[in-house]
Amino acid sequence: RRPKKRTKIIEMMEELQKENVYIKDAERVEKLLCQLIQDGKSKLQIITDFDMTLSRFSINGKRCATCHNVLENSSLVPESKKQVLDELRDTYYPIEINAKMTIEEKIPFMMEWYTKGTGVLVECGLKQSDLSLAVKESNALMRDGCDWQFSTLHEHKVPMLIFSAGIGDILEEIIKQHSQMYANMRVVSNYMDFNHDGMLVGFKGDLVHTYNKNEGALRNSDYFTTLKDRRNIILMGDSMGDLRMADGVPNMQHILKIGFLNDNIEERLEKYKEAYDIVLVSDSTMDVPNAILKKIL
Ligand code: C5P
Ligand code: MG
Repeated sequence: RRPKKRTKIIEMMEELQKENVYIKDAERVEKLLCQLIQDGKSKLQIITDFDMTLSRFSINGKRCATCHNVLENSSLVPESKKQVLDELRDTYYPIEINAKMTIEEKIPFMMEWYTKGTGVLVECGLKQSDLSLAVKESNALMRDGCDWQFSTLHEHKVPMLIFSAGIGDILEEIIKQHSQMYANMRVVSNYMDFNHDGMLVGFKGDLVHTYNKNEGALRNSDYFTTLKDRRNIILMGDSMGDLRMADGVPNMQHILKIGFLNDNIEERLEKYKEAYDIVLVSDSTMDVPNAILKKIL
């Protein structure tokens, strides 16, 4: 007799059979899916990263813009400043995705990158009224299936927290231009501070960088407290720092972590498979999370 199969749901879902989908512990994921489906939408909340998770990493082999890139690459930033920002990216992005350094080792470098980078942006005399055009002219894109995901989560009243080390004003504009901001969405990010003339003078509140989202999560414990009955979480991210976005969720019962691995793939795959329940390698779509949502909602 054949042994009893313990991964029935996984095997039934064709989206999970693709070659770029990695599930290290199928039994655990099977159990999780089973629980999430059983508990249903009233117990569910979504916590997601923005850049390179909701937004696309590349199109036709060319990198898509992050929130920061939207400004850095726009005509609003003078050439001399662009050069400085490019140099910062060339210095610090390799550290962000370095597979050998620990998060603790990376944090001081991320602080440096963000502090210097936002400082340069403030020197550019950016105006609030220019942001929409900068997004329009950029190649920032959402993953295929985001639009369906957003409207469906809204329809089923499932709250979605977008937790981003990008720029809040820009990410909202990207979502508005490619989909829609809905009432069930809440954004925690770096928001720009404009003076009465609409000129950028700084950033509001505490800085969110890639590897301090755990602190941000704790600062937003009020949000999580209002959702305390929603004990099941689907977390989506593309960085090891995103795994801590749900820190501070009270009474969490089940968490399914879906990781998009876009860059430095070979070096990081093992770590991602350890840390994320499901790893999607070079996937430009929301097919897998959406297939899971379809089962739950
Ligand atoms: O939304 P998320 O938390 O992913 O936003 C952070 C992203 O922004 C990182 O992937 C980082 O590489 C990118 N970034 C950038 N330029 C900066 C700072 C961050 O492209 N100056
Ligand atoms: Mg990201």
